[in-house]
Amino acid sequence: MGNIQRNKVKDVLSGAVAVGSEVLLKGWVRTKRGNKHVAFIALNDGSIIHNIQIVADLQQFSDEQLKAVTTGACISAKGKLVDSPAQGQPVEVQLSSIEILGEADAETYPLQKKGHSLEFLREIAHLRPRTNTFGAIFRLRHAMAFAIHQFFNDRGFVYLHTPIITGSDAEGAGAMFKVTTLDLHNIPKKPDGSVDHEQDFFGKATNLTVSGQLEGELGAMALGEVYTFGPTFRAENSNTTRHLAEFWMIEPEVAFNELQENMDLAEDFLKYLIQYALEHCAPDLEFLCQQYDKELLSRLNFVVNNAFQRLPYTEAVEILKASKQKFEYKVEWGTDLQSEHERYLVEKHFEKPVILTDYPKDIKAFYMKQNADGKTVRAMDVLFPGIGEIIGGSQREEGYDKLLARVKEMGIPEEEIWWYLETRKFGTAPHSGFGLGFERLMLFVTGMSNIRDVIPFPRFPKSADF
Ligand code: 4AD
Ligand code: MG
Repeated sequence: MGNIQRNKVKDVLSGAVAVGSEVLLKGWVRTKRGNKHVAFIALNDGSIIHNIQIVADLQQFSDEQLKAVTTGACISAKGKLVDSPAQGQPVEVQLSSIEILGEADAETYPLQKKGHSLEFLREIAHLRPRTNTFGAIFRLRHAMAFAIHQFFNDRGFVYLHTPIITGSDAEGAGAMFKVTTLDLHNIPKKPDGSVDHEQDFFGKATNLTVSGQLEGELGAMALGEVYTFGPTFRAENSNTTRHLAEFWMIEPEVAFNELQENMDLAEDFLKYLIQYALEHCAPDLEFLCQQYDKELLSRLNFVVNNAFQRLPYTEAVEILKASKQKFEYKVEWGTDLQSEHERYLVEKHFEKPVILTDYPKDIKAFYMKQNADGKTVRAMDVLFPGIGEIIGGSQREEGYDKLLARVKEMGIPEEEIWWYLETRKFGTAPHSGFGLGFERLMLFVTGMSNIRDVIPFPRFPKSADF
């Protein structure tokens, strides 16, 4: 094949490679069609949503040589880049030599036809990245991850790596995955019958983390502005289109920020990310817009260009109680809002993203700063159209006595979080932060409707394949 370097389809289509030059392409065959004289091979290499057309002259290539060029096969093709007479593509390649790197049996390759359902594609998550849809989603996911680091780096935040195995339960949610090396068939017990975790790997009970926040706060109390971006795990049995058992979360934590600045940061952050997608991922967004959600681009632009509505939980409850909408769950002050309520506020009432603040303390985590009313805390949830809650955060309680009282009230074992409490003893400061669910962001940016379609290999109840 000669020793020229592989060209990416993206570069070849974008004009970065001069017409007339020899190119070497490697990728997966999407389709092969043709007539008596020529065969047209549509090749995709993942670098861009579009395929490149490779034209094989059948006087030069026999049926035998092209027999293995079937949908799904991996090939290496060399040829001359020429202007394409066909519509919708600037250039094509005149095949001069071809090598089959990997055949794909036409009888059994599952992605033969176009238009497979998303449900079916979930069952073949090992192959679905080869579809236009999932190629677009995973390129967008990469772009968003990159933009997240860019955003914080530009603002002087430090990326703090918080632990994945933890002995504490940050959210008090109680739905954690246990981490143990104990023999499940022969669990060591203490005299009182409880599990003897002293014999376990860490000498204590440990779990997979539900959030990096508590450790993030430790970092903020030294480095000023930090963020985490890592996997988090929740064992709650929520079989919904918006929950995963393993998801990624971005958690900035900022010393000296109060709730107002926390909201500003969250709004700037989301707008930056969406703007980034619009600027850098146009071909993928256009494809998703066309295929799945005609409103996608206008919705993304709308969010970038409009201020979010900010209001206290208490006012939101009044709006919901006064509305004529029939909700499945009743709204009362003091109850957690369901996603139907959140979406009503965003999609029907305000028709824009909403930030709700000052929730009742009893439905929020122990670490949130208590308001003077004794009933509410300085919480903030950012609610998005089609999604509901995309961000949850708060100003943190920085007073040692108040925090300790809340820890005791909520029955949180002090010995698990002594180190967290100590930040309030030694040089405490007002500070705030929030958590953005990465896959919730991806739902919004891609316009997909099931969270299992925006992460390569989703984990949810009864499912951990691949
Ligand atoms: O509201 P949550 O539980 O907040 C925290 O964990 C805080 N420690 C964050 C902080 O203040 N640093 O979760 C934050 C976000 C939610 O708004 C949602 O977007 C996402 O994480 N999230 C999930 N995403 C997918 N699957 C799940 N099971 C999720 N649970 C929460
Ligand atoms: Mg929340």
